[in-house]
Amino acid sequence: MTALLSLLVLLFFFCSYAPSSFCANVTYDHRALVIDGKRRVLFSGSIHYPRSTPEMWPDLIHKSKDGGLDVIETYVFWNLHEPVRGQYNFEGRGDLVRFVKAVAAAGLYVHLRIGPYACAEWNYGGFPLWLHFIPGIQFRTDNEPFKAEMKRFTAKIVDMMKQQNLYTSQGGPIILSQVENEYGNIDAAYGPAAKSYINWAASMATSLYTGVPWVMCQQTDAPDPIINTCNGFYCDQFTPNTYAKPKLWTESYTGWFLSFGDAVPHRPVEDIAFAVARFFQWGGTFQNYYMYHGGTNFGRSSGGPFISSSYDYDAPIDEYGIIRQPKWGHLKDVHKAIKLCEEALIATDPTITSLGSNIEAAVYKTGAVCAAFLANIATSDATVTFNGKSYHLPAWSVSILPDCKNVVLNTAKINSASMISSFTAESLKEEVGSLDDSGSGWSWISEPIGISKADSFSKFGLLEQINTTADRSDYLWYSLSIDLDAGTQAVLHIESLGHALHTFINRKLAGSGTGNHDKANVTVDIPIKLVAGKNTIDLLSLTVGLQNYGAFFDTWGAGITGPVILKSLKNGSILDLSSQQWTYQVGLKGEDLGLSSGSSGQWNSQSTLPINQPLTWYKTKFVAPSGSNPVAIDFTGMGKGEAWVNGQSIGRYWPTYVSPNGGCTDSCNYRGTYLPSKCLKDCGKPSQTLYHVPRSWLQPDSNTLVLFEESGGNPTKISFATKQIGSICSHVSESHPPPVDLWNSDRESGRKIGTVLSLECPYPNQVISSIKFASFGTPYGTCGNFKHGRCTSNKALSIVQKACIGSSNCRIELSINSFGDPCKGVAKSLAVEASCA
Ligand code: GAL
Repeated sequence: MTALLSLLVLLFFFCSYAPSSFCANVTYDHRALVIDGKRRVLFSGSIHYPRSTPEMWPDLIHKSKDGGLDVIETYVFWNLHEPVRGQYNFEGRGDLVRFVKAVAAAGLYVHLRIGPYACAEWNYGGFPLWLHFIPGIQFRTDNEPFKAEMKRFTAKIVDMMKQQNLYTSQGGPIILSQVENEYGNIDAAYGPAAKSYINWAASMATSLYTGVPWVMCQQTDAPDPIINTCNGFYCDQFTPNTYAKPKLWTESYTGWFLSFGDAVPHRPVEDIAFAVARFFQWGGTFQNYYMYHGGTNFGRSSGGPFISSSYDYDAPIDEYGIIRQPKWGHLKDVHKAIKLCEEALIATDPTITSLGSNIEAAVYKTGAVCAAFLANIATSDATVTFNGKSYHLPAWSVSILPDCKNVVLNTAKINSASMISSFTAESLKEEVGSLDDSGSGWSWISEPIGISKADSFSKFGLLEQINTTADRSDYLWYSLSIDLDAGTQAVLHIESLGHALHTFINRKLAGSGTGNHDKANVTVDIPIKLVAGKNTIDLLSLTVGLQNYGAFFDTWGAGITGPVILKSLKNGSILDLSSQQWTYQVGLKGEDLGLSSGSSGQWNSQSTLPINQPLTWYKTKFVAPSGSNPVAIDFTGMGKGEAWVNGQSIGRYWPTYVSPNGGCTDSCNYRGTYLPSKCLKDCGKPSQTLYHVPRSWLQPDSNTLVLFEESGGNPTKISFATKQIGSICSHVSESHPPPVDLWNSDRESGRKIGTVLSLECPYPNQVISSIKFASFGTPYGTCGNFKHGRCTSNKALSIVQKACIGSSNCRIELSINSFGDPCKGVAKSLAVEASCA
């Protein structure tokens, strides 16, 4: 039987047994993915299921659908599902089937990127650590042991999906699958074996007969029938490797990831909207936002090194599940505008012409349908003539014309409301009758400095850390004792591959060092004082998320590989300690005792609480903040460590790692090519102080918080914060097109609708309760900070109040008939700030 024939037989088999009526065939052609015989324009967004909780999934998916998405994309995280070879976990946040079914329940499709290499700022790129220890293995190349494991896991996931009828060919939501990830970015390093590996991966994937297409991203030589797709900040100039494949964009970045020690990246929505419109202008038909909801790297799941626990990504839905405005709303409008062009987009290729320097027109025209995109790629505004009509094109923007005549949206003109969401601090309310007598509300256990566990061992020389710990813990102790005839002042020189280290001399913290995301290595020269006789040197080396990207990323080492040198300040003598017999301990005693659950161990609560003491476990009981707003813990006052709420790890915390002072901007200019370093925020401030505690992990009254603090901090400074939505705002000018929703009625009325300002309360049960600011004329400023300009109508406030108060949403036309004209000949705008209750 040929492959095609067996595929058809399989499809028949699937469909006849499928529970749902929506069993469809997914194929593709030059223009688009074809679902049930119909080419489709599709918007997709990444939500990685373990980065939120199952309780959050339905709401996140609902908000994605409401934002105009058709598809949810996720990686599959191998190390989450198979932590020990042959032992699988698909529970809780790892319940992949539940996630896929939740997407299906909302009526959306799924793109399942099985990989099984993910990258994704996820620990070790998603690979389980045990894979590294398989004899003779080499990752991501033509290597039999690796290929056997990769095939086994990929087949396991495909089978699991098939058993639940989750492929669209079976009536399920999965329309697309990915094998590998961006291998083309690094394949040159693997030599000729790269090619045979990628060919193998392609035929391995297709041999699993999912009934839906497979993609490889950033893989120019992806063999047929695999579709090669684009990842990037812009993908308009991308073309697939054969004419028979559609132009798909699998990672369209909504922001960027955050690393401990770095400033917070931000990407303006005007630039994202521009990039998206350019992609569809240039023939694209499928686009996925990376990330649509970034979420949280709980536990030790973050990769890196140094990826923060927050994976907010500046995405349209924030880490806590609240829509980020105007990003979410403006992109929703972009989706609607492009969908208005769908008939033309799927029917033909665009004809692209130049309307001037850096100005392009793209026209999709067949028969009676016509849609056009006018793009100004320059950094200054322009006015162009297109089909005999004049159009103003703001710098770095695209106007979308679903009928080739009228502009329904310009990417630089935001009709969507913006919103202020903010954290309110709440003190940590202790449970009544809490366990301690010291009055602080906290109890503690000191983690021993140096070797304390029975499974320690000794070896001559310095060991690489990941090979030693197998990532069972972030921590590895390197201990040595040396005898000296006389005491001496010295400098201890330590070279480590990273990621951070603490040095204890005679059981006292003498100094620490840390690398960062771009350079994990640490070299320190620590002045120390040694005594005559026996001295102990205890070095605690730690990893902060394992490497997830790059050629041979799996072989990048960590830990104190040396040299470790003692330089005497008295006589300049040098003692190289590197090849001495060191004693090693993997992990902490408290980890073995299971202190993170809070229930075990001898917790001290009688005497004074130790503060600013390195290596201390702390525990308290608390009452959850009331209400249903998202909750975070503010770790200001603490150093570095990990925290658990009711036994669930909320991630590594590190509020003392401050970003460099320079390189941030308050007024980010979206015009011009974006780079992650372009629009940074919070320079000179901690990279992350707030850590998400999912509501579903909290009990109403009695909750346990446990911390392991490495460097020293004051836990009584810890507080809670809840996140809520404050004001909603909108600011539109007379030159904004009317809202996209009004397109049909507007066209019927012969383009009579003018600019309209719309406001809508974020929650369904709310109404607009007050108007904090309204100005028609030349107002300026940003949401929460609007100011009247020199020109202002005195009717604005009463008009807006009348139209909006008491309603869940309102629309106000910007018309001088109602507002009067406070300054003739001047371009006017309307700015409003409102509250909902
Ligand atoms: C890409 C990769 C993603 C993610 C992204 C950065 O190269 O495919 O998995 O790591 O970069 O967030």
